[in-house]
Amino acid sequence: MDKKNKTLGEFIIENQSSFQYSSGELSKLINAIRLAAKVVNHEVNKAGLIDILGAAGDTNIQGEDQQKLDVLANEKFIQTLKNREIVCGIASEEEDDFISINSQDEQHQNKYIVLIDPLDGSSNIDVNVSVGTIFSIYRRVTPVGTPVTIDDFLQPGDNQVAAGYIVYGTSTMLVYTTGDGVNGFTLNPAIGTFYLSHPNMQFPETGKIYSVNEGNYIHFPQGVKDYIKYCQQEEGDRPYTSRYIGSLVSDFHRNMIKGGIYMYPKSSKAHEGKLRLLYECNPMAFLAEQANGKASDGKGRIMALKPTELHQRVPFFCGSTKMVEKAEEFIAKANK
Ligand code: AHG
Ligand code: MN
Ligand code: MN
Repeated sequence: MDKKNKTLGEFIIENQSSFQYSSGELSKLINAIRLAAKVVNHEVNKAGLIDILGAAGDTNIQGEDQQKLDVLANEKFIQTLKNREIVCGIASEEEDDFISINSQDEQHQNKYIVLIDPLDGSSNIDVNVSVGTIFSIYRRVTPVGTPVTIDDFLQPGDNQVAAGYIVYGTSTMLVYTTGDGVNGFTLNPAIGTFYLSHPNMQFPETGKIYSVNEGNYIHFPQGVKDYIKYCQQEEGDRPYTSRYIGSLVSDFHRNMIKGGIYMYPKSSKAHEGKLRLLYECNPMAFLAEQANGKASDGKGRIMALKPTELHQRVPFFCGSTKMVEKAEEFIAKANK
């Protein structure tokens, strides 16, 4: 079959045996995420009608309460994963604590936990700009059949078995890895099917795009300021182009296709940066490394970090290898 005609469903079945621990459970889990993605996509597409259908906090014509899209996305993902009884625990950027799931079927002893950022780039919702969802999957470390504990969630990114994102953009795409490269699937909204449109995605080794909220420049560490000035200098293939959507998923997606670096450094206002290690940085780092790119906290690999808290924040530099290495070089030089 032509690779491009392959659906996500077919791809999941074909690749099931190549997973390290192949019991079909991970395939079912990715299928559940595929379903939740379609539901959230439908809601995101309606966002512009909110003034007609009613704003958050209102009651709509069917008597249902209207909800904010980030709350709704959170509920849809959690509900889908719970209903299908395929995970033993979920942690979400939108929830204070992790959720432990006890399967009704005692024979069924789920091994996987999921971490999600249900709606990434939420400040873009009301203005019709791309948003996304990020997910990260691990095997639990505590015994199967017992309630999950915090230890199951505080694993280094290197332990991830799968990670991905959905970008609700000009078209909706689901991009994921199970540790064997990165593949992208585009939704055909007319029939609700994802097709393999971007097989084996790779970051170009270097690029010409830098993505950072430059409004924070004055608060950045010296090394980051120096690197930004380097990006703007006229020399060789520089100055680079600045592109910042304010949705990590969308900025990452563009940079992976075109070549570039995304940065959310620490600043004098936010000492650990803004992005969350578990819900945002680790999954994006796994994708980046699987696509020949790099992800760093400015000093070393993101996925080597041992998390200490569920909602831990960390500085983030991610994208084309040579660009991330250059940023690290400037940071190291300024710290000498
Ligand atoms: P979220 O909507 O899940 O809170 O994440 C937003 C994140 C990230 O997606 C984006 O790149 C960044 O925050 C934007 O932050 P600034 O507005 O501070 O640039
Ligand atoms: Mn986010
Ligand atoms: Mn979010």
